[in-house]
Formats: sequence, structure tokens, C-alpha cells
Amino acid sequence: MGESQRTPRHVGLIMDGNGRWAKKRLMPRGYGHNAGMNRMIGLAERAKERGVQYLTVYTLSTENFSRPKEELEGLYALFRKYFAENVKKLYKKGAAVKVIGDISVLPQDICQLLVDGEKNSPQSAEFTLIFAINYGARSEILRAVRLAKAQKEEIDADGFERLLYTSGIPDPDLIIRTGGEKRLSNFLMYQAAYAELYFSDTLFPDFSDGEFDRALDDFSHRERRFGNV
Ligand code: FPP
Repeated sequence: MGESQRTPRHVGLIMDGNGRWAKKRLMPRGYGHNAGMNRMIGLAERAKERGVQYLTVYTLSTENFSRPKEELEGLYALFRKYFAENVKKLYKKGAAVKVIGDISVLPQDICQLLVDGEKNSPQSAEFTLIFAINYGARSEILRAVRLAKAQKEEIDADGFERLLYTSGIPDPDLIIRTGGEKRLSNFLMYQAAYAELYFSDTLFPDFSDGEFDRALDDFSHRERRFGNV
């Protein structure tokens, strides 16, 4: 494996364990999401430093969308905070943001923040932070099938991939899940066909830069054959 392949180009991050982290501190779940957001900001910085080009963070799944209103409101407040205070710092470092998922059902102001967040991003960024919001792989695939059916010509794999939310983004090389569960939970299921998986028992707010580095180092030692011998 060449040096350039030792660093994953695209990392997916399932940020699980915020609720349990807060519960251990006798605090509401939103306290854990706030700590999780701060950790996510730190990890995006670390990923960029390590030469990762895309980091996709699973912030809200289609399933999470049915969580209690109070918890969702708390997450929306975090999005407002992030896009008011943090996104410009990312732009200044030459990084972009992108959103995948069905954001049309989110409160109008959040939807606008996300659209503007993408639009105001620097062109040809070295690093892109991708927010998966109201994202679910099954809905994404079904949506692509509907779009494909509406086209006249028969579609090949490249054409199908262009209909996914991730069009133009390389497949994830590495998916990290914190919080102890060992599953993908409807995250990038089409794109993760050959992703290496890394599971950690650490609750997301405690997932340090050092542990992220260990996940990247673990990746660098994996032999990826993509179905070949
Ligand atoms: C899963 O943990 C985590 C989420 C549903 C939300 C993750 C969101 C963040 C880390 C903040 C994202 C950043 C912005 C800008 C909003 P859980 O609550 O299911 O944890 P549990 O399994 O311990 O209950």
C-alpha cells in the first residue's frame, strides 16, 4: 500500500453515546449533544491536520428524527450555534461544509443555514466536513431509484452514484463508530461497501484526538483487497 493510501481520504463518523455520557453525569441528553458537538469540532480539526479530505458526521438519522421534540429542539439549537459561531473558522482554514440527507423537513431557518453553509464554503477546499442530517441510507437509495426511473436512458453504476446525496464524493475508506454498538445503523450503506470499520467503546464526548489517531493508525495497517486476491 502506498503512503497516500495509508491515510483514509474519507472518514465516516457515527457519534454515538452522547445520551449515556450525559446520564452518567445526571444531566439531560442535550448536555451530552453539546459536549458531542465540541468534540466533533475538535475531531474535524484533527482530521484535517492528518490529511483526511472528507469527514462525514452522522448528526441526525431519519430514525432520530422521531426523538422527543425537546431533544430535537436541542439539536437544532446546536446547529444554530455551530453555523453562527464555528463555520466561519472552518472557512478561514480553507475548509468547506456539505450536507447530505432530506433537510426539507427541518425548521425553515435551519434549512436556510445549511444551504447557506454550503453556498458560502470556499471553492476547491482541501477538507470538507459533511453533515448527515435527517439522513438514512435506505431513503437515499430509494430516492436514487425514483430519480433513475424518471430518466429515459438505462443507468449504470456511475450514473446511479451520481443520484446519491454523496455524488462527487469518494466512498468512505474508514467508518468509526463510538459508543460500543457494532453496526452501521443506516449510515452510508451503499458507499460503505469496502469501508474498513472501526468500533470503539468510548462514549463520543470522550473520543479524544489520540483515539482518533489510533483509528487512523489501525486503518493504515489494514490490507484492503476490494474483492481481489
Ligand atoms: C447519538 O448519541 C448522537 C446523536 C443522535 C446526535 C449527534 C450529534 C452531535 C454530536 C452534535 C452534532 C453537531 C452539530 C453541529 C449539531 P445518542 O444520543 O443516541 O447516545 P446514547 O446512545 O448514549 O443514547
